[in-house]
Amino acid sequence: MTADANTFDSIGLASIGLSLPPLALPVEELAKLRGQDPKKYTLGLGCQEMSLCPADFGAVEMAVEAARRALGRWDGELDRIGMIVVGTESAIDMSRPLSAWVADELGLRGAVRSYEVKHACYGGTVALRQALEWKLSGAAGDKAALVIATDVALYALSDPGEPTQGAGAVAMIVDQPHIAAIDPISHPWSEPAFDFWRPVGESFPRVDGKFSLDCYKTAAENCFKAFVGDDNAERKLSELAAICFHVPFPKMVKKAFLHVGESFGWDFELANEIFSQKIDPNMGWNRQCGNAYTASLWMSVAEALAGLEGGQQIVAFSYGSGFGAELLTLTAGPEAAAGTWAADIESDLDSRTHIDAAGYEELRNVRLAASA
Ligand code: COA
Repeated sequence: MTADANTFDSIGLASIGLSLPPLALPVEELAKLRGQDPKKYTLGLGCQEMSLCPADFGAVEMAVEAARRALGRWDGELDRIGMIVVGTESAIDMSRPLSAWVADELGLRGAVRSYEVKHACYGGTVALRQALEWKLSGAAGDKAALVIATDVALYALSDPGEPTQGAGAVAMIVDQPHIAAIDPISHPWSEPAFDFWRPVGESFPRVDGKFSLDCYKTAAENCFKAFVGDDNAERKLSELAAICFHVPFPKMVKKAFLHVGESFGWDFELANEIFSQKIDPNMGWNRQCGNAYTASLWMSVAEALAGLEGGQQIVAFSYGSGFGAELLTLTAGPEAAAGTWAADIESDLDSRTHIDAAGYEELRNVRLAASA
């Protein structure tokens, strides 16, 4: 690729691969254990099932599988990958980047920049932006970037966040925009806050769940206002083929979007209609997977892109506690319509094993013993 080819239309997602772990727990089973009405989890939070990892399986294994799948569908060779960057909050070492474990498994070495990005659930988006900007700068030359968002979301037993747990990975090759072009102009928003954090040495996050919702709403309002600018908000958002959000749990997305609508002066009916048409349909995979932190938004984006006609636009709202957020615009490319990456989710969902309440307790005991 020449420097001239490094224009907006020439950079984006060339390939996508996804991976889920082999176990799942319906939230009704967790409700039995916690003495809760299952409707609190299904209707109150909008959750359905959570992906779970066996003791010997985690962020690295999912990242490797997602990357293999993305590479397998890509028209380039492994030696064209000049950057591997992993966004995660499931780091397994304070120094060695998770990307090194993944690169080792993939046989990726040599003239490759390899690193890990951390910013709670926003880390995958920062990784993607860095890859995009590396390509746009011309520094990448003819090389492509392999960006992976991978996480295992586990809370302390009986934590209010427990029904929102999940796990998954999304790998994206940033190169020619066969699947989607990414607009270099994006809309970030950050404010320092302690809404969700995990001190060094602690196994589980500390979460101020209600405050995290307030932070998420503030971020969404500011990002969407920046995106709309002086345009008519209803027209601008209605023109989009889809609006994707980071999905800590589906009800949080709905609450945040109703708040965005309120900030535009909309009534409930209008905000609810746009939510139902443009947002809710993109959370199907999230509902079956639970919160996969960095991977959650990109799972929703992957679902939304599958089947779009070239030229259709979507936006992606990324949020990470702490807090940092960013709204990105993507334009579907010629290979979006085929949506080949949907097969990854379909096969992982078909082959996973559903466990019950007793199986979940046993699994958590094994994991707790392993991390002690
Ligand atoms: N039937 C239907 N709905 C029910 C119900 C029942 N029997 N019982 C409760 N509910 C509803 C509640 O009314 C509430 O809905 P509302 O908020 O629309 O009023 C919802 O279920 C949750 O109940 P609540 O009592 O608020 O739950 P909680 O305090 O136990 O936990 C969170 C809620 C959000 C605090 C918790 O899930 C959490 O911390 N999640 C993680 C947040 C996160 O990931 N943040 C960081 C990333 S952005």
